[in-house]
Amino acid sequence: MNKKPLIAGNWKMELSHKAAEEVGRTIKSLLSNTQVNSDIVICPSYTSLAITAETFAKSSKVNIGAQNISTEEKGAYTGQVSVTQIKPFVTWCVIGHSEVRAATGVTDEGVVAQLELLQKHDILPIICIGETAQEREAGQTIEKITNQMNVLLTNINRASLTKIVIAYEPIWAIGTGITPEPDEASEIILLIRKIVANKLDKEAADRLRILYGGSVKPDNAAQYVGAPLADGVLVGGASTHPGDFVKIIKEVEKSYQ
Ligand code: PGA
Repeated sequence: MNKKPLIAGNWKMELSHKAAEEVGRTIKSLLSNTQVNSDIVICPSYTSLAITAETFAKSSKVNIGAQNISTEEKGAYTGQVSVTQIKPFVTWCVIGHSEVRAATGVTDEGVVAQLELLQKHDILPIICIGETAQEREAGQTIEKITNQMNVLLTNINRASLTKIVIAYEPIWAIGTGITPEPDEASEIILLIRKIVANKLDKEAADRLRILYGGSVKPDNAAQYVGAPLADGVLVGGASTHPGDFVKIIKEVEKSYQ
């Protein structure tokens, strides 16, 4: 199977405009003498999309992504940013991130609307799913993931499956430093593949790229990638530290071979 790992850095709202420019430049220079065998995506805030896209304009090593889009394509939606507005700067976009779900109340159906908009405008989605701490404690993880996947699969067919990425992010692991055992993560990643295989077929399910996200650091990234685990990682906090982010890229590439 010809899959490349994917490492995505979600800068959240952590960096000032100036810091985003500097972090982007430093990552670029750290990667300049390195052979990259993965897809790397950096997701700055909207206000830093243009400068980050410019920094990496002549680099085939790093792609730019947005952190979210509106569920609407255009119109009187004060404060929102649409798919067509991010289009000049990005090839990727994260949707369904738990922080966005919590802040905006976007539902799984809303995430499907965002997915449709991204597909219409040829932007590749990284779709986040995951359970809360309470759902995990109540033994509802499998049910939650199954429901989220079933809603998504109403709008995903075999052809579009190679152009989407699912990020499994246990919400209790995001920004907490608490991480699942690799076995626990692999159980959910296998579940996601099984759901896709049941709806479509096994080959399609095997081709789907699934990331792990939640407190990924240089010293734990490797344990989450490589079959039967993830095809890469979605990194929050550590991606704003260029040295750590580049170490994570190297760790993932090593362990994915
Ligand atoms: P974290 O964030 O790596 O800081 O836990 C991950 C994410 O929110 O995608």
